[in-house]
Amino acid sequence: METQKTVSRQQFLKTCGIACLSGSALSVALTSCASVYYAQAPRIKGWAIQISKKEFDLSDKGKRKRSFMVVEMKNQAHPIYLRRLGDDNYTAVLMQCTHQGNDLNAHDGYLSCPAHGSEYDTDGRVTEGPAEESLKRYQVTTDEQYIYINIA
Ligand code: FES
Repeated sequence: METQKTVSRQQFLKTCGIACLSGSALSVALTSCASVYYAQAPRIKGWAIQISKKEFDLSDKGKRKRSFMVVEMKNQAHPIYLRRLGDDNYTAVLMQCTHQGNDLNAHDGYLSCPAHGSEYDTDGRVTEGPAEESLKRYQVTTDEQYIYINIA
C-alpha cells in the first residue's frame, strides 16, 4: 500500500513538472501546483488531528483565508482534505478513491483521481465515475484556536 502511494506521488510530480514546462499549460499548471497547501504542524491530540486555525490565514492579519488544505500524518495511509466553510465550519474527507484506492489530487472545490478520472465534491460525493461510493468523511470540531479532525 505504501509503495503504491509513493509511486502515485512520483507520477503526480512528474506529470506536474512536465505540465509546468509545457507552453500553453504553464500558467494553469503553476496555479494548480501552487494552490495546494499542506498543513505545516498537524498534531495528534487524543483521537483527533489538531491543526491551528492560523494555518488558514493567507495574510498576517488573517483577513484572507485559504479555502482548503491537505493534512498528512506519518501514521495515516492517505492524506485528508480539510475544507474551510467559515470560522467554525470545516469539512474533512479522506483522499482515497473509492474505486480502487488511489490517492486523490486536491483542487479548490473538488478532488480528482489520476488513475481513472473519478471526481468528488468537497463533501466527498461522487460527481464523476467510475467511483460510485462517497469518500470517508470525518467529524470536525473546533475551539478558539484549533481545528480537530476526529479520526477515531
Ligand atoms: S482508482 Fe480512482 S478512479 Fe479508479
